[in-house]
Amino acid sequence: MARQPRSLAGKVVVITGGGRGIGAATASALTRLGARVAIGDLDLDVAKRTADGLGDDAIALPLDVTDRPGFTAFLDEVEKQLGPIDVLINNAGIMPIGLLEEESDRTTRHQLEINLHAVVHGTREAVRRMKPRGAGHIVNIASAAGKAGFPGVATYCATKHAVVGLSEAVRMELRGTGVEVSVVLPAIVRTELTAGVEEARFVKSLVPEDVAEAIVAALRRPRFEVFVPRSLGPINRFTRLLPRRAGEWVAHLLKGDQVLINAAHSAARKDYEARAAASAPAADKEAGG
Ligand SMILES: NC(=O)c1ccc[n+]([C@@H]2O[C@H](COP(=O)([O-])OP(=O)(O)OC[C@H]3O[C@@H](n4cnc5c(N)ncnc54)[C@H](O)[C@@H]3O)[C@@H](O)[C@H]2O)c1
Repeated sequence: MARQPRSLAGKVVVITGGGRGIGAATASALTRLGARVAIGDLDLDVAKRTADGLGDDAIALPLDVTDRPGFTAFLDEVEKQLGPIDVLINNAGIMPIGLLEEESDRTTRHQLEINLHAVVHGTREAVRRMKPRGAGHIVNIASAAGKAGFPGVATYCATKHAVVGLSEAVRMELRGTGVEVSVVLPAIVRTELTAGVEEARFVKSLVPEDVAEAIVAALRRPRFEVFVPRSLGPINRFTRLLPRRAGEWVAHLLKGDQVLINAAHSAARKDYEARAAASAPAADKEAGG
């Protein structure tokens, strides 16, 4: 008999970068199911507005995931206010678009710090808190760019591939401990991060609620690899079986090799790129910049 889906009522869930986009949609879906959600975001005003809109079950706290002691202190504060953390969703991320040869070292560092180093740190902190209790769920938001390369986002792809590898390894380290790990791999989602990005072919772009729904489903019936849409999983596995040139031809057919790089100089990305460039204040301070 199939096991009953887990209840999320009363669970303490932390979402990094939950002020807007996928994180905010996930916070909303989870509070509707009775979870108590702590939203940590660099943009505290946005996070507060999001939490206020969700009622008494959501709180907003300031967080710069590139400030590792600050990230740890944020998790301590959540536990003080809401109790032991049941679920950590490492969601905060940035995606500057441009050719690698045009990317500044600062932009490279920002992506490594936010998209990767902070996910390593958050995962480690969660394991240390959850393993002794024999329960918990770590959800790392990677991307379809964690399984394939896309021109225009080379460093982003590197960070997301690393998050997949991290999650695979930690999942095995945690076997038998009661702590679950999931890695989420969405296609293009309509948020500020993809401003100016056109539609791919055959893989329709998503809304943040689609990803939220997939995350909720993975929490209720734990699953490791969560492609959104689900059809992306078989497409990915199929193209991997093909010789490289044939796989690249399929990617070309789907416009996967064009959609991101085509947006590199789009005026529609100006505001997002400026926000992304200011997203790692602690890392900038550490680097003396
Ligand atoms: N939008 C997509 O197409 C897509 C596809 C696949 C994966 N993803 C991933 O999903 C995650 C969320 O993306 P989104 O599209 O919702 O982006 P978004 O820009 O809409 O939201 C990201 C949030 O993270 C916050 N943030 C940024 N830097 C931070 C930091 N240093 N500390 C704390 N918070 C910080 C921002 O303030 C923002 O509220 C990212 O990891 C992204 O890589 C997005």
